[in-house]
Amino acid sequence: MLKIAFAEPKIPAAGTYAVAVSADRTLSPEAVELDKKLGGALRKAMMATRFTGKRDEVLPVLAPAGVGLQRVLLYGVGKAEELSDLRLQGVGGAILAHLNSVGETEAVVSVGRVGGATGTAAQRAVELAYGAVLRSYRFDKYRTKEKPEKKPTMKKLTVSVSGASAAQRSFMNREKVAEGVFLTRDVVSEPPNVIYPITLAEQAKGLAKLGVDVEILGVKEMKKLGMGALLGVGQGSVHEPQVAIMKWFGDPKGRDRKPVAFCGKGVTFDTGGISLKPAAGMWDMKWDMAGAGVVIGLMKALAGRRAKVNAIGVVGLVENMPSGAAQRPGDIVTSMSGQTIEVLNTDAEGRLVLADVLWYTQDRFKPRFMVDLATLTGAIIVSLGHEHAGLFSNNDELVEKLVESGKATGENVWRMPLGDSYDQEIDSDAADMRNITGVPAGGSIIGAQFLQRFVNSVPWAHLDIAGVAWSKKDTGTVPKGATAFGVRLLDHFVAENYESS
Ligand code: BES
Ligand code: MN
Ligand code: ZN
Repeated sequence: MLKIAFAEPKIPAAGTYAVAVSADRTLSPEAVELDKKLGGALRKAMMATRFTGKRDEVLPVLAPAGVGLQRVLLYGVGKAEELSDLRLQGVGGAILAHLNSVGETEAVVSVGRVGGATGTAAQRAVELAYGAVLRSYRFDKYRTKEKPEKKPTMKKLTVSVSGASAAQRSFMNREKVAEGVFLTRDVVSEPPNVIYPITLAEQAKGLAKLGVDVEILGVKEMKKLGMGALLGVGQGSVHEPQVAIMKWFGDPKGRDRKPVAFCGKGVTFDTGGISLKPAAGMWDMKWDMAGAGVVIGLMKALAGRRAKVNAIGVVGLVENMPSGAAQRPGDIVTSMSGQTIEVLNTDAEGRLVLADVLWYTQDRFKPRFMVDLATLTGAIIVSLGHEHAGLFSNNDELVEKLVESGKATGENVWRMPLGDSYDQEIDSDAADMRNITGVPAGGSIIGAQFLQRFVNSVPWAHLDIAGVAWSKKDTGTVPKGATAFGVRLLDHFVAENYESS
C-alpha cells in the first residue's frame, strides 16, 4: 500500500512539491509563498496554459530556478466553497495518478489553506491522503512481463499540513478501511480458477488474525440445515459450496448485544448452469462473487479499526456450472425456510443462494437488520447504469441511512420499489414460488421480491451491485477493475449509526 506520512508545512529542499490552486487561478497561500521564492514562475506558467485550478486538473512546473525542487505540481481543487471531503479524495486520487504517470516515487503535497473550504486543514489532509491511497490500488500479480516504465512508481506521499500529528491519528482508521477495500478488490479481481468456494472461504478465515471468529459450513452441515436452494446451485460443480460466517464482537457492552448483519452473494463463477449464458462476456462472471467479496472486506475494515459494534458477515459461496450433476430447469428444491422453489432458470441462481443465507442469518443471529449485497441482475444495469446501486428495502429508516452514507462516500444507491403485485408474479403452480417470471419486466424488482420471501420481517435492505462492482474506466479514487463498491458505504453506515460510544 502507498505509504502516507503527515508533516508540518515546510517547502521541501528537493524532489516534488504539490501546492493547491482553486478556481480562477487562485493560488493558495502556500502556492503564493512558493511563487515568491520562484520570482513569479508559477503564475507565469499558469498563464501560459489553460490550467485554471479546476478540480482534478494538474500542471507540472519542472526544474524551477532558485530552489532545489525538481518539480512543482500545481493541483486544482475547483471552487473552494464546493470542496467537500469526497472531492478532496478525488483530488488526492488525481495527484497520485499524475505522479505515477510521470514516474515519480515520492512527493510532498501541501494541503493549502484554501480560502472558504470547510473543515480543519488536518481533516482535509486526511481526505486527500485517503483518496491517494484508494487510487493507488493495482492488481498486477499475473503481469509477469510488463515493462518497468509501465508500472506505477509512487511509494510515498507526505502530506504537509499544520496539525500533522492529529491528521496522522485520524488517518489510521482510514487506512484500515482502505485495507478492507483492497482485500475486496483482490478477491474480486482474482480469476475463477484461483478463487472458488474453498479458496474464498480461506480468505474469510484469514480475518481470524484480526480477532474475527470465522466458521465455515461445508456441504454436510448445509445438508443438515436443509439449505436445498444454495446446494442446488452448487451441485453441478467439482468445487463444493461453502458458507463462511464471520463474527466481529466489538460492542463494549458485550457479545450478547444484537448484531448488525451483512450477507453476500458469492457465486465464484456464473456460467448460467444448464440455462447457459452466451460466450461473449462470460468472463465477467468471475466477479459474480463481488457481494461476498465486499462483505469480507467490510468485516476486515470493521475489525481492523476495532469498530464498537457486533457485526456478522455471512457469505454463500458456490460455483454455477453445467454438468451431468447440475440442477435442471424445472427442478423443485426445498430451501432452509421450508419454502419450495421451482427453478425455471438455473441462471437466476444468486437469489437461490441468498434465500438460504438470509434465512440462516435471521434465524440464527436475530440481527438488528440485514443488508445483503449481490450482483443479482443484469436488469439493474438497464435501470441505473453504473452510477447507482439498486436499493430495495422493507424499512424506510434503513433506506434513509444508506442513501445518506452513499452520498457521503460516493457509493451512491437509488431506491427501487417493492410491492405485493410484483410479489405475486413469482407464485408457481408447482411449488411455493418460481425463481423467474418468464417475462423481461422489472427483473431487478422480481429478484428483490424473491429475496424478501426469506427475510422473515427483519429490517432488511438489498443492494443490487451488478452495475457498480466492476468499472471499465479509472475514476478519482477507483482504478478500473474491481471497485469494492459497498465497503466504504457500509463502513460509514455502521460508523455513523450503529457504534456504541
Ligand atoms: N450474475 C448474474 C447477473 C449479472 C449480469 C451480474 C451482468 C453482473 C453483470 C445473475 O446471476 C443472472 O444471471 N441474472 C439473470 C436473471 C434472469 C435469468 C432472470 C439476468 O440478469 O439475466
Ligand atoms: Mn446467473
Ligand atoms: Zn449470478
